[in-house]
Amino acid sequence: MAPDEIAIGVIAGMLERQTGQVLTEERKWRIGSVLTGVFREHGITSNQDLLVLLTQPEQSRLPQEVVEALLNNETYFFRDQAVFDKLASDIIPAIASLRERRKRISIWCCGCSTGQEALSLAVLFAEQRARWEGWDISILGTDVSSRAIDQARRAEYSSFQIQRGLGVTRMLRFFEKQEQGWTAIDSLRRMVRFEQHNLLEPPPFPGNFDLILCRNVLLYFDDATRRRALLQLRKGIADEGWLLLGGGEGKIAADSGFAADKQLVSLFRPADGGAGHPARAAA
Ligand SMILES: C[S@@+](CC[C@H](N)C(=O)[O-])C[C@H]1O[C@@H](n2cnc3c(N)ncnc32)[C@H](O)[C@@H]1O
Repeated sequence: MAPDEIAIGVIAGMLERQTGQVLTEERKWRIGSVLTGVFREHGITSNQDLLVLLTQPEQSRLPQEVVEALLNNETYFFRDQAVFDKLASDIIPAIASLRERRKRISIWCCGCSTGQEALSLAVLFAEQRARWEGWDISILGTDVSSRAIDQARRAEYSSFQIQRGLGVTRMLRFFEKQEQGWTAIDSLRRMVRFEQHNLLEPPPFPGNFDLILCRNVLLYFDDATRRRALLQLRKGIADEGWLLLGGGEGKIAADSGFAADKQLVSLFRPADGGAGHPARAAA
C-alpha cells in the first residue's frame, strides 16, 4: 500500500473511532483539501507529515482539530421548511397537549452543528409568545464538534449563513446586525443551551426529551454504529416522545426500538411506548 493510502486510512480510522462517522471514498481522496486549514496552521505539507505529528505528545490538540475538520457541518436555518411547518402545525401542539399539566417541553437537537436548527425551533416558539406564556420551553443543542458548539453558543452568523433559510422578516426580528455578521437576540438565546456531546455516549438526560431531532447525522454511520446511536436516542426520549430524523433517513430507524409515525417519513415514536425502555431496563 502506498504511504499516502496508509496515512488516509489512519486519519479516516481516527474519525470513525471518535465520532462513528465513516468517510466516503470521495471524501477520503479529498482529505488534503478538507484539511487545508489544519495543514496551514501547523505548517504541514503532506498526509504523511500529519501522521508523524499526530504521534507527538506535545501536539495534544491536533487529533481533535483533524477530526473536527473532517466532520460535515453543513446546516442552515429551517432546513427542510415542510418539516418545520409540520412541527409547528401538528407535532408541537401534540406535545403541548401531552404536557399541558406540567407546562414544560424539552427538545434535544442532537448533531446540531453551529446551532441553526435549534435556533429555528426557538423562533417557532418565539413567534407565538402569547401561546407559550407560563411554559418552560427548553431546547438543548449538542454536537461532537467543539468548534461548532463554540459558534452555536455565540449565536453569531456570517451574512452568508444568516441568509440561508431564515427570510428577511425573521432575520430582522430575531437577529441583530453586528460589525461582522449577525447575532441572535438574547430572548431567543435564552431558550437554547448548547453542549458538546457524542451521541454514541449516554444521553444528557435519559427519558427526558419530548422531541429529539437528529437530522443528517446517522447518514454517515455504518449500520452497527447507527444501531448504537439509535439505542442512545431511545434512552434519551420520553416514552411518549417523537424522534425526527433527516429527510433521507426514514428507513434508518427500522428494527431500532422506534416505530414510524405516518405524519412524516422521517418521524418515529418509541415502539413499545416505554415498556421495554432501555433506560428503565438498566435501572
Ligand atoms: C450535516 S450536520 C447536520 C446538522 C443539522 N442536524 C442539520 O440537519 O442541519 C451533521 C452534524 O453531526 C455532527 N456529528 C457527527 N458525528 C456525531 C456524533 N458522534 N455525535 C454528535 N454529533 C455528531 C457533526 O459534527 C455535524 O455538525
